[in-house]
Amino acid sequence: MKALVLSGGSGTRLRPFSHSMPKQLMPIANKPVLEHVLDGVGALGITDVGIIVGDRAAQIIAAIGDGSRFGLVITYIHQDEPRGLAHCVLLAREFLADDDFVMYLGDNILPDGVEDIARDFTEKRPAAQVVVHKVADPRSFGVAELDRDGRVERLVEKPEHPRSDLALIGVYFFTPAIHQAVDAISPSGRGELEITDAVQWLVTQGVQVIATEYSGYWKDTGRVDDVLECNRKLLEGLVPSVRGHVDDASVLIGPVVVEEGARVIGSRIVGPAIIGAGTSVEHSRIGPNTSIGKDCVLRDTHVDSSIALDGATVTGVRGLHSSVIGRNASIGPAEGHPSHHRLVVGDHTRIEVPV
Ligand code: TTP
Repeated sequence: MKALVLSGGSGTRLRPFSHSMPKQLMPIANKPVLEHVLDGVGALGITDVGIIVGDRAAQIIAAIGDGSRFGLVITYIHQDEPRGLAHCVLLAREFLADDDFVMYLGDNILPDGVEDIARDFTEKRPAAQVVVHKVADPRSFGVAELDRDGRVERLVEKPEHPRSDLALIGVYFFTPAIHQAVDAISPSGRGELEITDAVQWLVTQGVQVIATEYSGYWKDTGRVDDVLECNRKLLEGLVPSVRGHVDDASVLIGPVVVEEGARVIGSRIVGPAIIGAGTSVEHSRIGPNTSIGKDCVLRDTHVDSSIALDGATVTGVRGLHSSVIGRNASIGPAEGHPSHHRLVVGDHTRIEVPV
């Protein structure tokens, strides 16, 4: 079996970060989402992986490389524009050849793994096997209506009156039967080749399409709040380790990771929390549920339930909560005007202040 990982797309919901980086490289527990995805693919025993990349290809290729670091052999497949999930299958035709494959969305995190579902697919080999998850409000998802045996009777995209609470999530298992389906469908109203239309085409042909429920933790990391929630969840399993320097005036409480070259001076770190390599934390309170990237500086700062990307600097700010601070961003007192707020705010940035 091969894997097709979708790492193009436009990422509009993750602005402003997606203006300068592909959303699949957003760090969660200090590791890019895409690396979590590749771990999930590797856990299925797959080594041959195609990654669809869009206009941010260069950054993804620089971060992930040829896959040898993950025990994978990666082929990059370029998509000129986000033309839909089924378009990705069309583009990957040559790479996929006549093999079965798992299609995995590059921004979806399923830390509990889909090994059981993969095994079931390999044994039964239905034309397609989709993974579904119970959601409270299915109206913003593709929804699967099933018969008693778990066979898909109908897929409905964003139904106004859902007849099931089983949403399609970011993992699909396909036999080569899907290629005929993606050839047969036309772009949807939003101009994309929809994978739900392709799977629905298989259902209409009367071939076997199964849905299996994944009951573990799942997150589509498409929005900032999802990234923060997922960060909190993945930090739950943090194994403490201190490879950097923590001075005697500092306290670490609960699971805390201090990476190589990091310095913690006169500070209180409440886990789960990660202090990235080369970062300096001085006279600050960090955590819980906080991931600080590499080469950051935090001084006289209080921050919890947040993520700082590499190179961020925060000085003299107390009460930062549920915040995401971009690469090399800087927050601190205005030089020469200590009583003013002076903001240099990028496009689509959101700043929330107490009233
Ligand atoms: P989405 O999150 O549905 O689409 P998007 O990236 O355009 O996001 P937004 O709605 O915020 O603008 O895509 C799911 C995954 O599939 C994601 O990793 C991007 C990838 N993708 C492609 O690789 N090619 C495509 O044509 C599309 C639509 C998505």
